[in-house]
Amino acid sequence: MTSKLIAVLGATGNQGGSVVDVFLKSPGWNVRAITRNPSRDKAYALSVKGAQVVQADLDSPESLEKAFQGAHVIFAVSDFWGLYGDPANKDKPNPGQPLNVWAADHESQQLRNAVDVAAKITTLDRFIILSLSNATKWSKGKYTHVYHFDSKAAATEYAEHTYSDLWKKTSVFQAGFFLTNFLRDPIMTPKKVLSKVTGLKAEVVTLPKSEPPDGVPPELVQELSGNFLYWNEFGFEGRDDPTIIHPKARVRSH
Ligand SMILES: NC(=O)c1ccc[n+]([C@@H]2O[C@H](COP(=O)([O-])OP(=O)(O)OC[C@H]3O[C@@H](n4cnc5c(N)ncnc54)[C@H](OP(=O)(O)O)[C@@H]3O)[C@@H](O)[C@H]2O)c1
Repeated sequence: MTSKLIAVLGATGNQGGSVVDVFLKSPGWNVRAITRNPSRDKAYALSVKGAQVVQADLDSPESLEKAFQGAHVIFAVSDFWGLYGDPANKDKPNPGQPLNVWAADHESQQLRNAVDVAAKITTLDRFIILSLSNATKWSKGKYTHVYHFDSKAAATEYAEHTYSDLWKKTSVFQAGFFLTNFLRDPIMTPKKVLSKVTGLKAEVVTLPKSEPPDGVPPELVQELSGNFLYWNEFGFEGRDDPTIIHPKARVRSH
């Protein structure tokens, strides 16, 4: 049997890493793990597990062309929070432009780079793009500051409207809220508090409020507050979007 090739962006991260793990265990698949820096320990670990590790950067379409060459499947993921949190990007916004707005624009362009290059890959059977719902659209203009959602949605809509052939073989994947956020992100960590209820002592775990705590950059407060409120009111996935297929529906249909 001739093996197929999956090229995975974000292979050293959560989402791409889980895709790499699954396909390394799947007979008939070769895995190409894409990273900006193949000499990092995480990249080396992937090569030890059997992945072919290649260098590419979402900012460089030329590097993506080499990394996607010959692929039957491409898994594309971008990293808003990496861009927002990287101190090297602190001075990149235009005067008056908040850092999250810059990061969202940049992320969207990076995903569009992946789309442009994927459209040229003649061996491609399936393009999987990690996206999130268009908060501005599905909230009917009520929540316009959920930039890290809208940035991905914009790149996905670009693929749909620019490349009809690529779009026919595109799957849009909206990852749910990672439960690990509650463990790893100080803003989200549940707090144990001691409560006294009619003389009884009880430990109560409080989940994060719908607003981020004080001392957070104002643009992040706006982004996250809008994020939580949008989820509460319109659903993480923009529940009015008729194209959404929930995991439970897929389980039922198989
Ligand atoms: N947290 C949540 O609950 C949640 C839910 C749904 C969606 N998301 C979205 O998921 C994305 C993050 O995914 P993740 O958790 O898998 O990320 P992650 O674990 O932080 O890893 C980020 C990955 O992106 C790669 N990467 C970053 N910049 C790159 C560039 N310029 N070129 C090529 N690769 C680059 C990194 O590779 P190298 O460093 O090896 O180059 C790394 O593998 C974010 O956009 C976020 O909005 C998050």
